[in-house]
Amino acid sequence: MCGIVGYIGEREAQPVLLSGLKRLEYRGYDSSGIALILPHKKNIGIRKAPGKISVLERLVKNKPLSGAVGIAHTRWATHGAPTQANAHPHSDCAGQIAVVHNGIIENYETLKMQLMKEGHVFHSQTDTEVIVHLIEKFYKGIPLEEAVSSALKLLTGSFAIGVIAANEPNKLVGARLGSPLIIGVGKGENFLASDVPAVLGFTKEVVFLDENELVVLDKDNFKISDLDGKTRFKTTTHINWDIDQAEKAGFDHFMLKEINEQPRILENLINSRLQRKTGKICFQEQNIPEAALKEIKNIFIVACGTAYHAGMVAKYALESLCQVPTQIDVSSEFRYRDLLIGPETLVVAISQSGETADTLAGIREAKRRNCSVISICNVLGSTLTRESDGVIYIHAGPEIGVASTKAYTAQLTALYLFAFYLAQIRGVLSGTKINKLLAELFKVPEYQSQILKQQQKIAALARKHSHLGSFLYLGRNVNYPSALEGALKLKEISYIPAEGYAAGEMKHGPIALIDEYRAVVCIAPESKVYEKMVSNIQEIRSRKGKIIAIATVGDQEVKKLTREIIYVPKIEEIFSPLLVVLPLQLMAYHIAVKRGCDVDQPRNLAKSVTVE
Ligand code: AGP
Repeated sequence: MCGIVGYIGEREAQPVLLSGLKRLEYRGYDSSGIALILPHKKNIGIRKAPGKISVLERLVKNKPLSGAVGIAHTRWATHGAPTQANAHPHSDCAGQIAVVHNGIIENYETLKMQLMKEGHVFHSQTDTEVIVHLIEKFYKGIPLEEAVSSALKLLTGSFAIGVIAANEPNKLVGARLGSPLIIGVGKGENFLASDVPAVLGFTKEVVFLDENELVVLDKDNFKISDLDGKTRFKTTTHINWDIDQAEKAGFDHFMLKEINEQPRILENLINSRLQRKTGKICFQEQNIPEAALKEIKNIFIVACGTAYHAGMVAKYALESLCQVPTQIDVSSEFRYRDLLIGPETLVVAISQSGETADTLAGIREAKRRNCSVISICNVLGSTLTRESDGVIYIHAGPEIGVASTKAYTAQLTALYLFAFYLAQIRGVLSGTKINKLLAELFKVPEYQSQILKQQQKIAALARKHSHLGSFLYLGRNVNYPSALEGALKLKEISYIPAEGYAAGEMKHGPIALIDEYRAVVCIAPESKVYEKMVSNIQEIRSRKGKIIAIATVGDQEVKKLTREIIYVPKIEEIFSPLLVVLPLQLMAYHIAVKRGCDVDQPRNLAKSVTVE
């Protein structure tokens, strides 16, 4: 997810573009750049740099650009590490056209090869660069917008783009398919942006572009059409959000926004990794040869915090689906153990940031022992991905809230897909069984959306229990990690002592804790351990514990034991962690809000723990 901004008007464009970029930094921040039409030189000036937008600000302070028409970009890398060459904007061979892009061009390699054969010179590893060279190819004696349309019709994937050309200095072109793009309507000036916050400092009048729409702007007008040039009429919308709210898309906190993004992110992730026609699962950046993966004798998962809980779920999936013995340990323990691992071991490192010091130390130890290392990561080009033999990106977009939510379910989904991939190449799971499981996995985004429709009920239940001084979370089998994750979410943002426990362990000590002053969250979806969970709930009830249960829609047993139930749709047991975690995330969020805690930036914590 990147942020793009465009400006055409009477002001100096540079400060307007930088201010817009800073309002979009939550969309991605591993490199940024701007491009302006330099009217006196009949040319385009570009300034771009890896790193946060502050790096670009220093660059343009020393080497400013002057002009009233420009585009800008802040990047969340998906193809090509965050380097100077890969930063947007990208220009054509002659430096007369510039483009910024948010999205993924899935057929860029084929297009790039063809364009190179035709003599185009590429300077980056990005998918985006093919767009500007395609426009250059068509931009011969026709208006810029027609060249843009011709280029976009050849693309497969998603895009929101901004385009400028030196020989049409009074024109700014934008278009979208699959990625958001808005027009900011000013007086004597107009704007393009990925999202509302970028323009709110200048105008509250916006137009939301729809799929396959293209817009041509000058400083006083804008004209919207489809990619065939057929005019589209749209009304402006008055935005009454303030800027801070707008960065969170109207949600009160990034964490709540990210909880609600999960269905869309998982849908994109599943669809991008699965070839529906063949049922084959493909991981572009997974560079460990399949022959080597076939020889693996055991797997060792290393991770911290929430990523560790995702790894615990993966252990169940890998052992049951791939029949590969799988160990797991927190990275800070793994790195100091006398490890019995070697070339026959595949180490799977899970990390949202890709910069967690303990996990990095863990994989370095694994490499020293000649293990193959694959990482499950959200940040392209992060240290972990550069030191791994193979990478599976989760494409969850920047996760701003310190408490990990969307990255957790995206990690889980990537790990399930990896388990299917491994089972496919090791031939231990029939195509029929894989297709049955994939059909269940495809239901998850819709089922998550159904759960999110219960947010008001979950919020009320959370607030009702927010005064309690401690919480116990219980789960079994594949939802024992869910219990740990629910407890971690609550404790890290509300500061309430919370413990996650294997429910079967209750009788070995923790049951002594049960009384009417403690809430016990029981994760009891339909499963092979359901009856055992019901017994645990009965034990707690008889000791006056305050029970909050998560159960499957239609459950008749649990409702006899407690009224505080959140229902989740019925799904294949192995995937239930993808559903039960949403109520746990929302409960933690609403309890923390009720207690006045800083939900997005909890005390003592950092988003990425780069120290040991
Ligand atoms: C989870 O909500 C926490 N923010 C924390 O436990 C986090 O999962 C852990 O620090 C690992 O971070 P990583 O995924 O970036 O390696």
